[in-house]
Amino acid sequence: MTSLSTVFAYHERTKHHFDRYARSLGYLDWANQPHPFRYYRGATETRLALDREPPPLAYDRIYEHNATSPALVCLDSVADLFRHSLALTAWKQAGTNRWALRVNPSSGNLHPTEAYVVLDSTANEDESPALYHYVSETHCLERRASFSKDFWNSINLHLPAGSFLVGLSSVIWREAWKYGERAFRYCQHDMGHAVAALRLSAALCGWRLKLVSTWSTDDVAALLGLNREDEFLQEEHEEAELLAVVMPNTADAKGEARFPPPAETTIAEIRTAHWYGQPNRLSREHVAWPVIDEVAMATRMPPNAVLDAAPRDAVCDWQFSHNLPDIDARRIIHQRRSCLALDGRSSLSRELFLRILARTLPGLGPPWDALYWPTSIHLALFVHRVDGVPPGLYLLVRDSSKQDLLRKAMRETFLWETPEGVSPGFPFYRLNEGDFREASRTLSCHQDIAADGFFSLGMIAEFAEPIQRNGAWFYRNLFWEAGMVGQVLYLEAEAAGARSTGIGCYFDDPVHEVLGLTDNQFQSLYHFTVGVPLEDHRLQTWPPYS
Ligand SMILES: Cc1cc2nc3c(=O)[nH]c(=O)nc-3n(C[C@H](O)[C@H](O)[C@H](O)COP(=O)(O)O)c2cc1C
Repeated sequence: MTSLSTVFAYHERTKHHFDRYARSLGYLDWANQPHPFRYYRGATETRLALDREPPPLAYDRIYEHNATSPALVCLDSVADLFRHSLALTAWKQAGTNRWALRVNPSSGNLHPTEAYVVLDSTANEDESPALYHYVSETHCLERRASFSKDFWNSINLHLPAGSFLVGLSSVIWREAWKYGERAFRYCQHDMGHAVAALRLSAALCGWRLKLVSTWSTDDVAALLGLNREDEFLQEEHEEAELLAVVMPNTADAKGEARFPPPAETTIAEIRTAHWYGQPNRLSREHVAWPVIDEVAMATRMPPNAVLDAAPRDAVCDWQFSHNLPDIDARRIIHQRRSCLALDGRSSLSRELFLRILARTLPGLGPPWDALYWPTSIHLALFVHRVDGVPPGLYLLVRDSSKQDLLRKAMRETFLWETPEGVSPGFPFYRLNEGDFREASRTLSCHQDIAADGFFSLGMIAEFAEPIQRNGAWFYRNLFWEAGMVGQVLYLEAEAAGARSTGIGCYFDDPVHEVLGLTDNQFQSLYHFTVGVPLEDHRLQTWPPYS
């Protein structure tokens, strides 16, 4: 099988159908529940500051290029970066069960995403340039490898002054333990949430964050030490996902694109660097999911991958008609939660609704400036309770140049009307009027939250063509973009005084059927709901770090 046929076959077989869910164990093997935190036993730990109180910044400003002046790269500013992106935000308890929640959400709260950072010696003055692993449970860095100054200089040479690297990986087993074959998709959604969380946290530090497109997945695995196979249990392998450059927001924007792939000597130096620590074991026993191994392998970015697409010029910096009062960005970021139930009564004003939609449009600022590929995700919305917007099925075309393509692919009878109160040019269309509450619930695996909010939505990806054109690796990027849209929706819901939830469980083809999509030119990759939450008062809440 070619990598393309592997990826399309994986996507097909991991669809949920009305009469058959994607393959999983079918029950939860609690005895082998994976440990939620990765540690490298024996690696030196550096505690990161938790008591820092930087001046407040208005929530709306984190979407601006130059929200604040750049912080110096040091342990304290790196502490801030992680504190507001991947750190814990609370411990919850029900009976004797206790679990941690984090700034970033995760399907099933299983948190497959692991984060690494490569810092120069000036950031941590006691050390040589080093690779660190971030441990969210203790908010500390574990030193995983020490590099020579020459090595760092050879990398740094290509980066704007004051830059450092962040790498992300997925422990796929954490998700596969519960979700079986569909788990690879969820790991990629979580990756997108983590990227957006990191990008917006970087904005709080006056930094930019840009994903690197020139390093292959194998290069990233080498840098993060994930190819040191004799150290990892094979079943708990960490899949390298991506590398990002973090740089001051004052840096020359062109500089970031020139970061070349690593030379063979660089990879050799990484291999022979001083490596420390042994990854902890996460489960006693494992279940193998060979199709996940196959799709992970097929979607690795090869060396010299070329993105065959127009640059990101089809963007839309939409001016909001509804600015929020100056709410502190860090407060919104930390209060983000998924709703477990929605009230099924409250409604949202049209102005706030349009503001939320506008925020998901790919402007030139954060978090969209992190991406190197053209916009590929559009939103099919089931509007239930928005004042001034009649209930119905709507479409937000996130890249207006794709409207014709969508129109041709979708049901011929759709209206394509601009709803009342929507400014001309805003790419939001009514396709059909009607009560879609029951349909939304059914399509999202019968989950009430999809029907009981203001609106729910399916993220419709341009699918077969860009994957064929760019390569199977692009499958991951589509989920990353969907996850990023999700992270923005989570924050916007909080800022609007509401709450949202990502929905990974939905019936794929029945969603396509509602939209009239008959082939895999477009595919629904992620669902979401926004509304007013009902709190579960049986849960006890504890601070994240005591
Ligand atoms: C990719 C993804 C898929 C999710 N799917 C569902 C879902 O189908 N149903 C649901 O109730 N919650 C879903 N969630 C919400 C998670 O359960 C939630 O993020 C997790 O329990 C952590 O809680 P928190 O978001 O409050 O931190 C999903 C979250 C993500 C990121």
